[in-house]
Amino acid sequence: MAGWEERRAWLRCMEKAAWGDTPLEVAKNETAAYFSNGKTVEFQLEQEMQDSFEISGGDQGWRVRGGETGVLYGAYALIRACEAGETVPAGVQAPSYALRMINCWDNMDGSVERGYAGRSIWFEGNRFEYEPARIRQLGRLLASVGINVLCVNNVNVHQPAQHLLDGLLPDTARFAALLRPFGVRLMLSIDFSQPMQQGLSTADPLDAGVQAWWAETAKRVWTAIPDLAGFLVKADSEHRPGPNTYGRTHAEGANMLARAIAPYGGRLVWRAFVYNCMQDWRDKTIDRPRAAYDLYMPLDGAFDGNVILQVKHGPYDFQVREPLSPLLLGMEKTPLAVEFQLAQEYTGHQIDLYYMASLWRETFSQMGKGSVTAVAAVSNLGRDDCWTGHPFAMANLFAYGLFAWDPDSDPEKALRQWVKLTYALPAGQEDSLTAMLMDSRAVYERYTATLGLCWMVQPNIHYGPSPYGYEFQAWGTYNRADRNAVGIDRTKNGTGYAEQYPEPLRSLYADPQTCPDNLLLFFHRLPYDFVMKDGRTLIQRIYDDHFQGCQEAEAMGEALSALSLPSPDREEAAERMQAQIRNAREWRDVTNTFFHRFSGAEDRHGRTIYD
Ligand code: GCU
Repeated sequence: MAGWEERRAWLRCMEKAAWGDTPLEVAKNETAAYFSNGKTVEFQLEQEMQDSFEISGGDQGWRVRGGETGVLYGAYALIRACEAGETVPAGVQAPSYALRMINCWDNMDGSVERGYAGRSIWFEGNRFEYEPARIRQLGRLLASVGINVLCVNNVNVHQPAQHLLDGLLPDTARFAALLRPFGVRLMLSIDFSQPMQQGLSTADPLDAGVQAWWAETAKRVWTAIPDLAGFLVKADSEHRPGPNTYGRTHAEGANMLARAIAPYGGRLVWRAFVYNCMQDWRDKTIDRPRAAYDLYMPLDGAFDGNVILQVKHGPYDFQVREPLSPLLLGMEKTPLAVEFQLAQEYTGHQIDLYYMASLWRETFSQMGKGSVTAVAAVSNLGRDDCWTGHPFAMANLFAYGLFAWDPDSDPEKALRQWVKLTYALPAGQEDSLTAMLMDSRAVYERYTATLGLCWMVQPNIHYGPSPYGYEFQAWGTYNRADRNAVGIDRTKNGTGYAEQYPEPLRSLYADPQTCPDNLLLFFHRLPYDFVMKDGRTLIQRIYDDHFQGCQEAEAMGEALSALSLPSPDREEAAERMQAQIRNAREWRDVTNTFFHRFSGAEDRHGRTIYD
């Protein structure tokens, strides 16, 4: 099997380039290597342009004008367009979001939480351990699509990750230095109770000793890494420590940290993934999707200017289909980051195909140009030779970069560019691979969690069907299916969650006649004979979707085998496709049987439902 050096995904076309010590040097080396056939590329540095760039010229040569990182993004945009045979972007190109982050859930023992691409690329044995060349290649991978922040350690900060701020700080700084020429700044996840691990008796944010401890820590860390982007914090969430322990609000907790890092230009990214994970399933008054809005809306305006509240795109947790988090529409005075998950935790573990860009398109177009100022995504990278487990999962990282730069990007155009840069396929095959990946999200949704049904997955691992897997658990994740009905009423007659939306969404979701089919059971509790907009009953639609999704997965298998992909991508993709088809059949039969046993309704087409 080829090593990672040979598996450079879309960067194959640049593989001859030398590294550089600054973004400008990298830009020069990359373009010199790419345009080795005589065309020249001139660079004009204009500091105040920062990440922005403008490309001009053509026949004789190109000119790239831009800020310190802008020239690098310009160089990559130029190479991408030329390699894909596309028109070079005209006019000044500026990113919509200043922070375009990936959050890596890498633990220092080398494992990766929700990692589906092997072990950590940079941690092993509770310390940094990596090949510098691979880290530079990673920097290039990220920079080539405009990603500029990498949070290096898991949001669940296990020991000894706290030592990234002290004993291991010189190593953290060396790692940051490798990414710096690519304009990628490091971020660190921190533990709210960290002062207590190091001698203090409290982590209370209003305690002067705690404040001094963080100020001292920030000074030390920023002295070692002056361009550190900031700290990322998961507090009072899934058993992580936080300000609530001391009766303090999240604004008090976040602001205390924000003030410690403000002198250095640091940003405090505070995650809004906070809910009661010790819920009594019998208690129907608690509805998990309400949690973040209920907690944070009253705090709008209370956060310091360098705090960014990072909100998952949906109110649950990266399920196959969720509505947009109402917090992203509600908070107006707080800088927000929207968080996506490239790691396919609930979307097929980088075994099943799942191209995500249509989700981002939907999210960004619903969000409008509100107070969202940054974008984050949980990384799908690991030490596997192909970086992402499934070679096609790389398309998600690639497209994420393009969407974080320009949320109006087109999912299919982004995908096509990736396909062209990654594989030199004949035109028909390029169309076929593009179509397969474009359909993959809808297909996965049909054979797994149709109509907005969430959480019917195997508990903990989150792959494979288990319709009642989370039903009697403390996580607040229920479908409440019984013989009469399925789903949760989240209108004002039920949990009231739909009331968190502004109009017109509130009314749209509140009425089953107008609620989009793909969210119907997210917002409503309905009987199996409920008649859908297209005239089918709810139960028939559940059966149909699962049969159809499974058939489509099988057809994808056939389309895949007709592609002349290079080895080992061909073999890896084929092997994973077999697993995907097995998974799809399992989902179809388990889900259909589950609902058949409850409803007693026969399939109108007489297909096999096991009983
Ligand atoms: C999910 C995931 C966890 C993760 C958490 C988070 O619940 O299963 O592994 O820690 O999200 O986003 O913090």
